[in-house]
Amino acid sequence: MAAADVGDDVVGEDPTVALLERRVADMLGLEAGLFVPSGTMANQIALQLHARHGDEVLVADGAHCLWYESGAASAIAGVQLVSVGRAGVVTADEIRAAIRPTVDWCPATRALVLENTHNRAGGRVIGLDAMRSAVGAAHAAGLGVHLDGARLLNACVALGVSASEVVGEIDTVSMCLSKGLGAPVGSVLAGTAAHIVAARRLRKRLGGGMRQVGILAAAGLYALDHHLPRLADDHRAARAFAERLVGCPGLTPVLPETNIVLVDLPPHGPCDAAAFSEQARARGVLLSVFGEHRLRAVTHLGVSAGEVSAAAEIVRELAARLFA
Ligand SMILES: Cc1ncc(COP(=O)(O)O)c(C=O)c1O
Repeated sequence: MAAADVGDDVVGEDPTVALLERRVADMLGLEAGLFVPSGTMANQIALQLHARHGDEVLVADGAHCLWYESGAASAIAGVQLVSVGRAGVVTADEIRAAIRPTVDWCPATRALVLENTHNRAGGRVIGLDAMRSAVGAAHAAGLGVHLDGARLLNACVALGVSASEVVGEIDTVSMCLSKGLGAPVGSVLAGTAAHIVAARRLRKRLGGGMRQVGILAAAGLYALDHHLPRLADDHRAARAFAERLVGCPGLTPVLPETNIVLVDLPPHGPCDAAAFSEQARARGVLLSVFGEHRLRAVTHLGVSAGEVSAAAEIVRELAARLFA
């Protein structure tokens, strides 16, 4: 990062950013890319590329842009989101059924957002057939398709296919460098050259135009060079964590496909997810609250396999004390 060649990226003069954008676009099989500060900004720009104020966008059930972007889809992009499908999987029939009639008194349905892997569904991998059928149905109906690929590379590792295969005919993709890949910050939005020209203006409007930002892009390039193969380690560690919790009083872990483990607590037990998470935090284990009785654990570059098994022991001890 310290050695990165930099320039003013607001006027497109940062060579390291340009390198990262080219690299990610090529990897995804798309024409062009745009470095943005966050996955949230990438998704919000994509919504504005595909839809205008007052339009409707279909999102795979539990989508990040519906749950975790502070209402930006309505506040900033000005679109209304409609949840379709279940646990991240949307069928062609569900897409067709959700599209509003073309009449003046209905919002116009403009786009579909898929997410792979799917965060709220526990890092679930959406298979290629399911993706293709959803994308085909959306395109046949004239909708644009955006993929929230914050963890796209985790899906690629799990499926054993390239990123461009997962992307297929999808129009725009956001991919995070800051999650399992371990860069400190940043995402890339990719799409057609025309999408990215429009996206540059939208990024600036959102305050995401950054000057000598090659120092951050350099971290993204480093992550792509060095951290891809180790995503499989995160998946193994997550699996081992979940397996260690099987049979533990009060805990129902979902065996993960990638690096996210959901753990359910009993609905009428002595402790809800918020209280459990607080007690785990006091012992150095960070678990997100994903529902009243649902916790989420994530494995990543910053946690070694040894630390993951130590965390599992702490969670087991806590559960034994609280639920036995
Ligand atoms: C699926 C998904 N999309 C988008 C984002 C947003 O990324 P950021 O936190 O960089 O805004 C996240 C963050 O957790 C995510 O899980």
